[in-house]
Amino acid sequence: MPKITYNTHDNQTHTIDVQNGLTVMEGAIQNDIPGIDADCGGGMACATCHVYVVEGIDSLTEPTEDEDDYLDKAWGLKSNSRLSCQAIINDKDLIIEIPKYTINHASENH
Ligand code: FES
Repeated sequence: MPKITYNTHDNQTHTIDVQNGLTVMEGAIQNDIPGIDADCGGGMACATCHVYVVEGIDSLTEPTEDEDDYLDKAWGLKSNSRLSCQAIINDKDLIIEIPKYTINHASENH
């Protein structure tokens, strides 16, 4: 089973075995990892599951155009940003960093 390491913004590290084929978001929710709200339940409609993929990003399928659109709402966007509900674990270990905020709250006021 792939090992997924979740590093939270307050420097806590959680390394867990996650079943292949689950998403990075599902692995976090099922194991009570804090910081991934996943408000829309994986429907790609919120960006509150935004994470950085520190290691193993090549094992994930490329983000779709829709995912890229939603990532524009994410706080602190980086080149290794993904919506964790769209990042399907593909038999490889991953290191995931959970940002302090997932979405850009300032943009909600427009
Ligand atoms: Fe809403 Fe991922 S859980 S976009």
